[in-house]
Amino acid sequence: MCGIVGYTGHRNAVPVLMEGLGRLEYRGYDSAGIACLNHGGKHLFVVKEKGKLSRLREELKRHAVSAKIGIGHTRWATHGEPSRFNAHPHLDFTHRIAIVHNGIIENYASLKEKLIRKGIRFASQTDTEVAGNLIGHFYGKGNLLEAVRKAVKELRGYFAFVVIAQDEPDKIVAFKRSNPLVIGLGKGENFVASDVTALLPYTRRVIYLEDEEYAEITPAQVRIFSSSGKLVKRTSVTVRWDVSKAQKGGYPHFMLKEINEQPAVVKSILASHVKNKRIHFDTLDRKLTKRLKQIRKVHFVSCGTAYHAGLVGNYMMGECLDLPAEATVSSEFRYEDPSVDKRDLVVLVTQSGETADTLAALREAKAKGALTLAIVNVVGSTVAREADGVIYTHAGPEIGVASTKAYLAQLTVIALFTLYLAGIHPCRKKQFSLLKMKSRLQEMLRLPSQIKETLHQEAAVVRCAKTLYGKKNFLYLGRGYNFPNALEGALKLKEITYAHAHGYPAGEMKHGPIALVDNRQPVICICPESSKTYEKMLSNIEEIKARRGIIITLATQGDKQVAKLSNQVFSVPNTSEMFSPILTAVPLQLFAYHVAVLNNRDVDQPRNLAKSVTVE
Ligand code: F6R
Repeated sequence: MCGIVGYTGHRNAVPVLMEGLGRLEYRGYDSAGIACLNHGGKHLFVVKEKGKLSRLREELKRHAVSAKIGIGHTRWATHGEPSRFNAHPHLDFTHRIAIVHNGIIENYASLKEKLIRKGIRFASQTDTEVAGNLIGHFYGKGNLLEAVRKAVKELRGYFAFVVIAQDEPDKIVAFKRSNPLVIGLGKGENFVASDVTALLPYTRRVIYLEDEEYAEITPAQVRIFSSSGKLVKRTSVTVRWDVSKAQKGGYPHFMLKEINEQPAVVKSILASHVKNKRIHFDTLDRKLTKRLKQIRKVHFVSCGTAYHAGLVGNYMMGECLDLPAEATVSSEFRYEDPSVDKRDLVVLVTQSGETADTLAALREAKAKGALTLAIVNVVGSTVAREADGVIYTHAGPEIGVASTKAYLAQLTVIALFTLYLAGIHPCRKKQFSLLKMKSRLQEMLRLPSQIKETLHQEAAVVRCAKTLYGKKNFLYLGRGYNFPNALEGALKLKEITYAHAHGYPAGEMKHGPIALVDNRQPVICICPESSKTYEKMLSNIEEIKARRGIIITLATQGDKQVAKLSNQVFSVPNTSEMFSPILTAVPLQLFAYHVAVLNNRDVDQPRNLAKSVTVE
C-alpha cells in the first residue's frame, strides 16, 4: 500500500512528482503530499492534504514551488487515521530531513518511546515519523546514507522508504525491505518509485532494488549498496509496458477500459504461449520442467480475485490430472504450517507480485523445499523474482482497483499451464487423452473473439443494472468451475458498489441461504450449458423461482430453458466448462461496474481499498 515517488534532476520536480503520484494513486488515496528542496536548496518545503490527490493539486496552485529534487507520497493509512498531520512526507525533528514510506515498522512504539525519552517530539501518529526521527537522530555529521543505514539496523518490519536532506541538496537515499522500489534512469536526472507506471513518461530503463539494499540517487548517478555497505553492480532492464496503457484512453474509468481490453489480453497470452499447436513457456527452464514432472500435489496460493483464479485452477487440475490440487488464501496458508515438501508445487497467483501475504507464503513454501511458480502480472515484482519459476500474465498495467483483466489473464495462463502439465506429467487423467488436449487448445484460441462477443451484452447489463441498482443485497450462485465466479462476481459488486453481495455454491443453497430469498432478492445464477452440473443448476434456479426471487442468469447463447426461468439473461458463447469462467466473468464485471456508476461510486478508487496490499 501507499505510493512513493522521488525525483532529482534538471526539471521542476513538482510536476514530475504529481504525475507520478497520479499513476500511483491506486495504491492508496487517503491523503497525499510532496516535499521539495526549493530552488537553491535552502529549505525543505512540504505540502500535504487529506483526501485524494486532486486536493493536493488544488493546494499546490496556491504555492509557487520550483525545485530540482523532491519526494511524494499517496497514502493508505495503517498507523494513524487519514489526516493532514499523518500524511507523508514527514519531517524529522530537526526539520532537515523528509521521508516518505510504504509498509509497517513493527517496533515503532518502543522506538518512539526511546526517542521521546531523548527529548524528541512527534507531530503525527505514524510509524513513518519514527523512522524519520531515528534517521535525524543519527544524521549528526551530515551523511544521509550513513544515517539511514544506522536507523535501518533498528527498524523491524517490512517497508520501503525514500529520504532527502536539506544539507545534501541533490541526493535521494532509498531503502527497500520487502516492499517494492524501482529506480528509473534518465539523462542528468534519476527517479525512484513504488511502481514502474510512475516512471513510464520519463524512462523505460529501470533497476529493481533488492531487499535490504540502499540506493544513493543523484542526477548524475545511482549507486546501490548491499546491507553490508558493499557497492553492488546492477544492470538496468528495459520495461516494455506502453505508457498509453496506464491512461484511460477515452473511457470514463480505468475499470471499463480494462474490461474492454480483455479480448486483446487473452489473445496476446495465447499468441505468446501457443506456437505450432503446442504450449511453450519460455521462462520455465529444463531443470524446472524436470521437477514439474515429479510433483505430487499442486497448491494455488493467492488473495482476493487471484484466489478465485486459484480456485478455478483447482477444478482445471482435477479435470486433467490425477494429482491432488488445493487452493488456499495466502494469509491462511502461511500460518497453517503447510505440509509441503519438494514434491509439492506451490503456484502463487498475483497481479501485483507484491501482496504481503502471498510473498510470505512463497517464502514459507520455499523454506520447506517446495517448487514455487509465480503467475504474475507486474514484471520484476518481488514474487516474480523470488519464485523458482515465473509465468507473466502480461496484461499490462491494471490501474482500476477492482481486478478485471488481470483475472482473465490469470485464468488463461492457469488453463494453459494445466494443459501443459497434463502434457508432460505421468499423472495425466486417462480420459483426458492427447486428442482431447489438442481440441481444448484449439478451443482456447476462440476465446478472444468469444470474450469480444460477450462484451456486446453491455446494453442488456445496463438495462438490468438500472432496475436493480438500489438493492442492498445480492446473492451469486454457481457450481463447479463457476462457483469461484460466483465468489468473484460478489466480490466485484461489493468492493465497488458497497452493496452486500454473497457468493455461494448453488448446491448449498438449501442448507441455509435460501432463507434469504423472497420477491425482492436478486439472485445471479451462473449456468453455462457445458457444465456437468447444468441440470442440477436448473433445479436450483427452479427453487429460487418457486420462492419468487429475482433471477438473473448467465447462460449459453440460445438456452431457452434458462430464459424461461429468468427475469433477465446475459448470454455467453458456448465453450467447454473448463473455459467457461473466462466468459462468464465478463458480464459479472460489467454488472458490478454499471451498478457502481448508477450509485455514483468512485469506481476506480473505492473506499478503504488499495491496489496492492503490501501490509499483512
Ligand atoms: C479485487 C482485487 C483484490 C486482489 C487481491 C490480490 O478486485 O483486486 O482482491 O485480487 O488484493 O492482489 P494481487 O493479485 O496483486 O496479489
